[in-house]
Amino acid sequence: MTSAEVRQSFLDFFQSKGHTIVPSSSLLPSSPNLLFTNAGMNQFVPYFLGERPAPFNRAADTQKCIRAGGKHNDLEDVGFDTYHHTFFEMLGNWSFGDYFKKEALEWSWELLTKVWGLPADRLYATVYKPVKQGDPSVFDEEAWKVWEKIFKAEGLDPQKHIKTGGKKDNFWMMGETGPCGPCSEIHMDLTPDKTGGALVNAGSPWCIEIWNDVFMQFNATEDGQFVPLKKHNVDTGMGFERVAGIMATTENFTNFTRPPSNYNADVFAPIFARISEMSGKTYGRTMPADRNKLSPQEKNDVAFRVLADHARTLSCAIADGILPGNEGRNYVLRRILRRAVMFGRRLDLAPGFFTELVTPVVQTLGPVFPELKMQEETVRKVVRSEETSFDRTLDRGLQEFERIAAKLEA
Ligand code: SER
Repeated sequence: MTSAEVRQSFLDFFQSKGHTIVPSSSLLPSSPNLLFTNAGMNQFVPYFLGERPAPFNRAADTQKCIRAGGKHNDLEDVGFDTYHHTFFEMLGNWSFGDYFKKEALEWSWELLTKVWGLPADRLYATVYKPVKQGDPSVFDEEAWKVWEKIFKAEGLDPQKHIKTGGKKDNFWMMGETGPCGPCSEIHMDLTPDKTGGALVNAGSPWCIEIWNDVFMQFNATEDGQFVPLKKHNVDTGMGFERVAGIMATTENFTNFTRPPSNYNADVFAPIFARISEMSGKTYGRTMPADRNKLSPQEKNDVAFRVLADHARTLSCAIADGILPGNEGRNYVLRRILRRAVMFGRRLDLAPGFFTELVTPVVQTLGPVFPELKMQEETVRKVVRSEETSFDRTLDRGLQEFERIAAKLEA
């Protein structure tokens, strides 16, 4: 499947289950405690809290998300691993006081294994179990039972395929406050010899979370209380680039010998092609074993991934009206652009290269997020001006460094 087919097939599947397909909300969040929209559920917070009635009981979409700065912050990992991004699409389905754990988990399973054909024996589920005093709520026996039935029906051992996790891994919160609840994740073992079950939640690229089903049951308040919500809701998030990357890397689950990477998904290909054209270098699909000891090809590939990711982040954020600047979310954006320019220099890219990446980003994401196409010129102008000013600062710094170094040598 192509990336576009994965996205469409997700939406079609949930439409066939009675969900209304809604557009992604802006990356500029409506919640005051967020820097950027960081999850599909952000736009639905008032429905979860019962502040406004939901216009539909079930919805599904692909949501633009940025996780940089704030509670969910992946910036420093981006490029060095193959499965984190600052910008990504989250495919999600929601129930507003309608279906709950059973349907949510069964549909996740149906789409993954029956529609898309992910091998069931490579999948692991996690459920919430408090581990420390003060952890909210209780063991999620209901989710465990649903999974037990699912794995048994596949002829797989539930004791092996279901794991428990505490508040850190299995209780999802958007920020320190707001709607939240226990969650049940699906992880996929990508090892050549199917030994990855032990790597669930171990931070390994060989076994990654692909879907999170959150059961929104509480509102976390300023004073640290978890107040039960009037209605039970479902918020799920599936990593679009993760699933598309797995399909691409494994050639639709037929070959598990290569290092897995989201960046193998075709949605990144035109951006990589442009970087290659400008640098004369090629993306080698390596995965660094140790980020402190990178081979020349690994260094090259880290830079390719950083540039591709950051170009998507900058373009989409600016298209939504978030500009690089000196404070808060604007400063985070400025830092991301500067990080990209620094990595670009490692590829010996000429000044102005980053602005060139706006075109392939719009080409790949414009058909899904029309605002990107509409704001293309503005995005280009803002990126150009920010990039030029940072290039000047860098050059001045470099000249100053060389002047001092020459003096010390003399
Ligand atoms: N809110 C959850 C997450 O972001 C599921 O969508 O993982």
